Amino acid sequence: MKVGVLQFHPKFKDKSYNYKIIENYLLYIRDALVVLPELANTGYLFLDKSELTDLAEEIPNGYFTNLLINIAKKNNLIIISGLLEVEDSRFYNSAVVVYKNGYVGKYRKINLFYKEKFIFEPGDDLKVFEIDFIDIDNNIYKIKLGVMICFDWYFPEVARNLMLKGANIIAHPANLVLPYCPLAMPIRALENKVYTITANRIGIEQNNNEKLKFIGQSVICSPKSEYLLKLDENQEGVFLVDIDLIINKNITKFNNLNDDLDFLFKKLNINSYK
Ligand code: ACM
Repeated sequence: MKVGVLQFHPKFKDKSYNYKIIENYLLYIRDALVVLPELANTGYLFLDKSELTDLAEEIPNGYFTNLLINIAKKNNLIIISGLLEVEDSRFYNSAVVVYKNGYVGKYRKINLFYKEKFIFEPGDDLKVFEIDFIDIDNNIYKIKLGVMICFDWYFPEVARNLMLKGANIIAHPANLVLPYCPLAMPIRALENKVYTITANRIGIEQNNNEKLKFIGQSVICSPKSEYLLKLDENQEGVFLVDIDLIINKNITKFNNLNDDLDFLFKKLNINSYK
């Protein structure tokens, strides 16, 4: 099946501009799973909660989630996008998952990066969404979709937990500024035998004295640690690759990832990893 990323430059605090860009790009693709960056509809560099009030949306009842649902229906897409969420006056750095029947679910970022700690509440659970994706030829793909957001990559426990919950694909909306993640993702994919799809943004944002440059370099990695896609710092657009969702968990004739992990956890008395 086809999976991909939208790498682009969101305009800070300009939701209507970002909606237009996102809609224009997504309406060109069909029959695919596509991942958008973290906080794709608002930009990233918020420094104070007061800046969030007018921009945050509810999930699933907000404008952006509904826009994505309409595009997903029209073009048979699974869309995973980062967005700024509000619930009961609390703000979350979230990702929403939609498909042609509508809202599938959301994930709230747990590992908050840098000054995010001052404005967002952390999420408190990791989820795997089961979706039967049906393409134009009526092929059915059994997707078990784990979602993590940007800095979550730094903690291998996150991807491991998603794998233990059964994920075969990890969608990873991101706004990366440090250079390491594109190097780490092939290993996250290998050590968990999953596909990983990191959708990063490009461009520079400034807010008062803070300035961040986002590194682009969105990557899609295979369970064999291959880069199926590796963008540069400036590329903009939707990029798709074909993946074979049947994943063999054997490492050698005598090593199976799931069995060997069970064995390891027993040896180390780890019993609450899932
Ligand atoms: C990040 O978590 N946005 C670096």
